[in-house]
Amino acid sequence: MDLNIHTIEDYNRIYDFSTKDPEGFWAAVADDYYWQKKWDKVLEWDFAKADIKWFQGAKLNITENCLDRHLEKDADKTAIIWEPNDPEEHFRKLSYKELHFKVCQFSHVLKNNGVKKGDRICLYMPMVPELAIAVLACARIGAIHSVVFGGFSAQSIADRINDAQCSLIITSDGGFRGSKEFPLKNIIDDALVQCRSVGKVIVLTRSRIPVSMIKGRDVWWEDEIRKVETHGNPDFPAEPMDAEDPLFILYTSGSTGKPKGVVHTCGGYMVYTGYTFKTVFQYQPNQIHFCTADIGWITGHSYIVYGPLSQGATTLMFEGIPTWPDAGRFWDIVDKYKVDIIYTAPTAIRSLMSFGDEPLKNKDLSSLKTLGSVGEPINEEAWHWYDQKIGKGKCPIVDTWWQTETGGIMISAIAGVTPLKPGYASLPIPGVQPILVDENGMEIEGNGVSGNLCIKFPWPGIIRTTYGDHERNRTNYFATYPNLYFTGDGCLRDQDGFYKITGRVDDVINVSGHRIGTAEVENAINMHADVIESAVVGYPHDIKGQGIYAFVILDVSLHDHELTKQDILQTVTRIIGAIAKPDKIQFVSGLPKTRSGKIMRRILRKISEKEFSSLGDTSTLLDPSVVEDIIQGAL
Ligand code: PRX
Repeated sequence: MDLNIHTIEDYNRIYDFSTKDPEGFWAAVADDYYWQKKWDKVLEWDFAKADIKWFQGAKLNITENCLDRHLEKDADKTAIIWEPNDPEEHFRKLSYKELHFKVCQFSHVLKNNGVKKGDRICLYMPMVPELAIAVLACARIGAIHSVVFGGFSAQSIADRINDAQCSLIITSDGGFRGSKEFPLKNIIDDALVQCRSVGKVIVLTRSRIPVSMIKGRDVWWEDEIRKVETHGNPDFPAEPMDAEDPLFILYTSGSTGKPKGVVHTCGGYMVYTGYTFKTVFQYQPNQIHFCTADIGWITGHSYIVYGPLSQGATTLMFEGIPTWPDAGRFWDIVDKYKVDIIYTAPTAIRSLMSFGDEPLKNKDLSSLKTLGSVGEPINEEAWHWYDQKIGKGKCPIVDTWWQTETGGIMISAIAGVTPLKPGYASLPIPGVQPILVDENGMEIEGNGVSGNLCIKFPWPGIIRTTYGDHERNRTNYFATYPNLYFTGDGCLRDQDGFYKITGRVDDVINVSGHRIGTAEVENAINMHADVIESAVVGYPHDIKGQGIYAFVILDVSLHDHELTKQDILQTVTRIIGAIAKPDKIQFVSGLPKTRSGKIMRRILRKISEKEFSSLGDTSTLLDPSVVEDIIQGAL
């Protein structure tokens, strides 16, 4: 069966096939990859136990699909273009041959440093090609990578290292983002005070700031490569992996205080990311794909590294930020490399929009064919700006809905095929079966309806477990509604059957497209010596989509409130990282609690939105008078 989609009729036909014969459909998709041994069984699943297995019996290594298989025809094709933070610094291009060579070299380095299949490796690095090389080398040797975003604090890193019991860390001395320099190795040193499992740290030279190098533990990346270079043949045979062997762990926030280690496995994740990359963006050979995410997030894993490379594409990695040296930086990059596909977040679009037309002057942008959006709902104003100013009204916008747990894109227009509606993720891609349910888990059928978004059939990229705690995986995603994967998102299906994601229905805030659990932020605030209790909610924020609003009860004996706010922000930065800093802190004398002691966040959310007249029923509160006090403080 021809799985290429050129028209909406193709889409309808293939979508139909994918629901009538999911196993046949996915087997056909998987046939496009290189397997050391083909599968015995396409799918085995039991949502009640959160037990899902794809392509059982198959053997593969994802790096053979991302590297080796392109060497015959595309050895000299550029695999990675790297644009440095500082536009004055020289860019780098790595061909598939060079990337393969470097990945093999670094696989030797890992082996020399004692890494074996199944070991957990933590990566805390800037956006340099060596990050992609390290990720791929882990995959080649069969080690499980756990990339931690460079913005997380020492405490967050330590929690993640300890949860996964990582044995080795790969980091760099420092990193650059905009005008700032980050002391990555120093942060790792702080983290390691709490981590007994780590025996080795490999340190890449990037900013060459002074770092402490501990004998027997810390080694320089470059020294280790030199040792390997003298060995001659750098080839490193790819470890045969079972389709269901873990490929990586990526931590993400949920509604509890502790981040979850989302586990993806080798076979299904490979099939799903490559398929969605090719399908959604309608990627054509020789196009340049620029995903502006950081590899520290799932978008970077799936659409900078694995998806594009498995399809032999050229993927562009950018070390910096959209507004430095000025707000025209993305567009300079698009022009410099003649980018075909740009994939970014609504937050970035809104932020760039706020600079007006000036940064767009003298930008050509005519190379662009497709625009992508991910991470949060895109408001219509931002959608139209993206469409008109960047796409010049001629590039389809794919608003891609998905999650860390889904591995890849789930609901999205297919570029050039699906009719577009601003603000709508639009239609499920073939192979994905969404349904809407009410509070009781009853399916809401028909069009023009809203409900909680669930998926009723597995897809190859679905989360397999939460590291070290499978029960948590089951209760989080598969227990709310029997026999469904629950996304945590609210959703509208309009008269045409198009899906619009309306936002989280749980205690997760989406700040600039990054998930932050309210409980996590509350735990961090509560660590401050003067804080008695706190409650955190998300509120609408012009640029970030949602901002963090903290209601905080202080020890009454307090002196300087402004300074205390700064101290609280510093505490959150220490415990989680700057990304979780509240945008607003309001000191309150009490919190709206039910008689059983539960905080009624609904009321706090309304107050944070300044919707004081629609607070709903407050009579069930233990002390309804606190609400009036909080409103007064919020005015
Ligand atoms: O609420 C949805 C929102 O981001 C959440 C997933 O966050 P994360 O796991 O960090 O992954 C982000 C990148 C895939 C979702 O539950 N979200 C993601 N994409 C969209 C979105 N909300 C609306 N529209 C989207 N296109």
